[in-house]
Amino acid sequence: MKPVRVGICGLGTVGGGTFNVLTRNADEIARRAGRPIVIEQIGARRDNPLCDLSSAKVTRDIFEVARNPDIDVVVELIGGYEVARQLVLEAISHGKHVVTANKALIAVHGSEIFRAAAERGVIVAFEAAVAGGIPVIKSLREGLGANRIQWLAGIINGTGNYILTHMRDEGRTFEDVLAEAQALGYAEADPTFDIEGIDAAHKLTILASIAFGVPLQFDKTYTEGISRITSEDIEQADNLGYIIKHLGIARRTDGGVELRVHPTLIPKTRLLANVHGVKNAIEVMGDAVGPTLYYGAGAGAEPTASAVVADILDVARDIATEHNYRTPYLAFIGIDDDQDRL
Ligand code: HSE
Repeated sequence: MKPVRVGICGLGTVGGGTFNVLTRNADEIARRAGRPIVIEQIGARRDNPLCDLSSAKVTRDIFEVARNPDIDVVVELIGGYEVARQLVLEAISHGKHVVTANKALIAVHGSEIFRAAAERGVIVAFEAAVAGGIPVIKSLREGLGANRIQWLAGIINGTGNYILTHMRDEGRTFEDVLAEAQALGYAEADPTFDIEGIDAAHKLTILASIAFGVPLQFDKTYTEGISRITSEDIEQADNLGYIIKHLGIARRTDGGVELRVHPTLIPKTRLLANVHGVKNAIEVMGDAVGPTLYYGAGAGAEPTASAVVADILDVARDIATEHNYRTPYLAFIGIDDDQDRL
């Protein structure tokens, strides 16, 4: 069977994890895809010491990967806005399918990218962009497809939850725990995105677009982070029977869909209060199914790689069956992108 040929752009935390998972589980993944998935080329500014690249083809020019005629799927793991946007549009223009973990890219430039992909007839998959290894995009789009979603709420930034957890449990300072989260590879390149709520707002924008069929409108999200939370706040909340969590909340209101991310006091007995460390959890309320809960690692090399590789598998299956049902993203979630419905 003809292999699916993958080009990985970016070999940092998630890129390295993706390389290692694809390599280690190659046989199992090939069985599930119905064909081998091979890493044809890697585009990265520097090697990752955790990856054995002895038999890999590595280029320092990521755009070479986007143009490589021997590649079927470009996996964008460089992060950030503008270079990633150019890279993904370049890959699409060359007829490549794209898998990305980049929530900033999808939340801010998603409409442009999905339109370009629909015109070119290629897939853009982004499960890893939200909640690391938790398959919440697939669950919203496929598993809950019958429902009118009423609200969703959750912990969607692993770094923030890691900081709040360790400040509370170990009495450590904000700065100390943030430095640890960075060393563990959980934080964004610019950790301001984690601690000021921007990363969570990117993810909420994406979740809401799929759940409610509204356009991607990151700038309409009320955004507040955890940088001003002190040890005293955490202790006071504790004494009153609450735990402080940073939540992303999207819900239908009479005036449209409301999106907000901010610290929240949660009673200690509630499920979300008991989500600790780098874990994420999202509650989704559908009119038919009722409440559902999605829980797991929200950041980190291999948990995020798990979602990236699942998307590569989906693309491989879609190529094999010429199914392509993820291609018309805008039509799929039922929105007219020019309409402002937030
Ligand atoms: N910095 C992000 C987080 C990485 O901590 O959740 C995963 O999206």
